Amino acid sequence: SAQDIQVQIDTKTNGPTISKHIYGHFAEHLGRCIYGGFYVGEDETKIPHTDGVRNDIIEALKELQIPNLRWPGGCFADTYHWQDGIGPKDQRATIVNQWWGGVTEDNSFGTHEFLNMCELLETEPYLSGNVGSGTVKEFADWMQYTNNGGVSPMSELRKENGRETPWNVKYWGVGNEAWGCGGHMTPEYYANVYRQFATYMTGSNIQRIASGASSNDYNWTETLMKNIPAHLVDGLALHHYSVIDWNDKGSASQFTEEQYFITLQRAWEMEELVTKHVAIMDKYDPEKKIDLIVDEWGGWYDVEEGTNPGFLYQQNTMRDAMIAGMTLNIFNNHADRVKMANLAQSVNVLQAVILTKEEKMILTPTYHVMKMYTVHHDAKLLPLKIQNNATYKNGANELPAISASASVDQAGITHISLVNIDARQSQTVSIPLSGVKKADVSGSVLASAKIQDHNSFDKPSKIQPVDFKEFKVKGGQLEVTLPPASVVVLEVK
Ligand code: AHR
Repeated sequence: SAQDIQVQIDTKTNGPTISKHIYGHFAEHLGRCIYGGFYVGEDETKIPHTDGVRNDIIEALKELQIPNLRWPGGCFADTYHWQDGIGPKDQRATIVNQWWGGVTEDNSFGTHEFLNMCELLETEPYLSGNVGSGTVKEFADWMQYTNNGGVSPMSELRKENGRETPWNVKYWGVGNEAWGCGGHMTPEYYANVYRQFATYMTGSNIQRIASGASSNDYNWTETLMKNIPAHLVDGLALHHYSVIDWNDKGSASQFTEEQYFITLQRAWEMEELVTKHVAIMDKYDPEKKIDLIVDEWGGWYDVEEGTNPGFLYQQNTMRDAMIAGMTLNIFNNHADRVKMANLAQSVNVLQAVILTKEEKMILTPTYHVMKMYTVHHDAKLLPLKIQNNATYKNGANELPAISASASVDQAGITHISLVNIDARQSQTVSIPLSGVKKADVSGSVLASAKIQDHNSFDKPSKIQPVDFKEFKVKGGQLEVTLPPASVVVLEVK
């Protein structure tokens, strides 16, 4: 384009560390996320697994360096009684999954299965405890069961079930969506309930995360910040989905450019949401001791034709790659307060990074974006400004075409992630960088001919990152041409 878009990176200011936990994931007992996704069961013979967990999934998620995994919900968490999921499998109680398809849950994947899986994945577990239909005692017992290394009834029970040492789970969610499936509570009521539960959450090095607002419910955040004493809380959650219309979400892979635009408009709202929720938190917690944890985010569409509507199984296209690239840039740029986030959800549900079909598995465009962005994990944020940004228009509505974030890692290497959401136009951006030489720059790009393009079980590698060459160095500036609907990550040595 003729427009001179500039990405001005501030290399002088000492930015915050981008917590790797921003790149977290979420696995609920929902549809085929756990059963038929992660977990195929110990008796499966066709699909290679370790203690029932698919080896191909373990490998792919290790490749992605997933920093944490939230479990067992979601809405399911506030119906989950952890004691049903321990001990001999043939004696475990069953329950009906009231939120997701009314299927019978046999509890064969429980606390041991999940926490051992996290060890295989080399990831930190984030347990979401039952507040909606559980008791304070049940919650406190779960913490003792997983974390107590001394002598206690719960640590004895854990040992009886075959696990000697505690798992030392750090991250604990106190209920989920308390304003909805977690009990339809008012914020005032939940704040009190939270205080009660948090009082009995003991142990060193734990993070207590309060159930947060839905999208722009600022009153929720305000009421919680006002009513929960700072010493009882370490993180406050926020959920936001990119959904066109809850009553008409549209197909995940067959959509118009207008639907594409609206989805990205919803995704871009994250910038305003984070800014405004943070402003409220700043008022009560100016030292930023309490983290903002966006523990559910992603695109939400109609389920694939012929699949159970309660299972939330959807394809994943270049549109989702745009959501991911843009959203992760937003989180990076707010790394001083956003310390954790969890994409919903990891396998076979909503904006998944992995889809499975029997023994087959595909990595989605979202997976590839997450992989490209691993360079930002625990790197120092370089604040940036985009000057003269192009706009991507839909009628009277417009969105900034380019989003970006940058960081410098421990080896002193700078990484810049750029997203061009414009479905039709490429965009050229210049990035002033003192002393930059072409030889020092390399990059990768994720793009495809159409925004509806996706990987399928027949063509699993249709979309994957390739070497990026569309840049030159001119007058101390890096000039980069981003294809339509693309994600580019540059490395500058
Ligand atoms: O991720 C699917 C569902 O969305 C979760 O269970 C719930 O927390 C949210 O409403």
